[in-house]
Amino acid sequence: MFDSGVGGLSVLAELRALLPEAPVIYAADNAGLPYGTKTEAEIAARVAGLLGRMTERFRPRLACIACNTASTIALSVVRDVLHVPIVGTVPAIKPAAAATRTGVIGLLGTAATIRQGYVDNLEHEFAQGKTLIRHAAPGLVAAAEAKLHGRPVDPALIAEAVRGLRSHPAGERIDTVVLACTHFPLVRDELAAVLGPEVGFVDGAAGIARRIASLTQGQQFARTRPDYAVFTGGPLDGQLLPALARYGLERAELF
Ligand code: DGL
Repeated sequence: MFDSGVGGLSVLAELRALLPEAPVIYAADNAGLPYGTKTEAEIAARVAGLLGRMTERFRPRLACIACNTASTIALSVVRDVLHVPIVGTVPAIKPAAAATRTGVIGLLGTAATIRQGYVDNLEHEFAQGKTLIRHAAPGLVAAAEAKLHGRPVDPALIAEAVRGLRSHPAGERIDTVVLACTHFPLVRDELAAVLGPEVGFVDGAAGIARRIASLTQGQQFARTRPDYAVFTGGPLDGQLLPALARYGLERAELF
């Protein structure tokens, strides 16, 4: 389960619920965090190179890119060069379009994600006749990282993301928000408190877990040691380790 940081834990939580017996190595490229402000070339090269080295070392039966930024940019190149099934993360525009009653959907992602043609295609395919308001919210990546590292979440970061959606001419009519970055479900409660009870959220985590379950259907799992996490940068201390333990990751080491 690969992400630039702790965001993929939101996907891991759904996977645990569906496949509790599946052994997982959680991999965070925190030395490269954030991906959202990098160029397409930087992200594609970094993700393909790192996943190549990780799959060689760990030999997983499946790899999940639990990161919208990495997936929307690098999924096809990674699939071309790695010989392991890859499950990616796609902004949940389809379920949002089915859920909205006002026809106005907000989409929070990283700057790199929201400019992708991949997102244009999803909008074209699934949200015709709806208004999709995209806003880049890098502050929410920082907020989620802070929360998981046991630091306080700066309310200004949450307020800025909400303001970005609401300041659009149709922003007050948003009733559904796509959390198109795996970090953002980790601060869903903070967002909900500012957006209000009439706004619902969708993200791709449950769909990814179902996809992994379907690709591994009929396979036997045997956990031979506790699940753990690898990080590309340190330090691995403070409140991070107890947070990882809440997701069943009993230790963390440097990759
Ligand atoms: N978690 C990543 C995503 O889903 C992005 C965070 C970052 O900017 O590195 O897009």
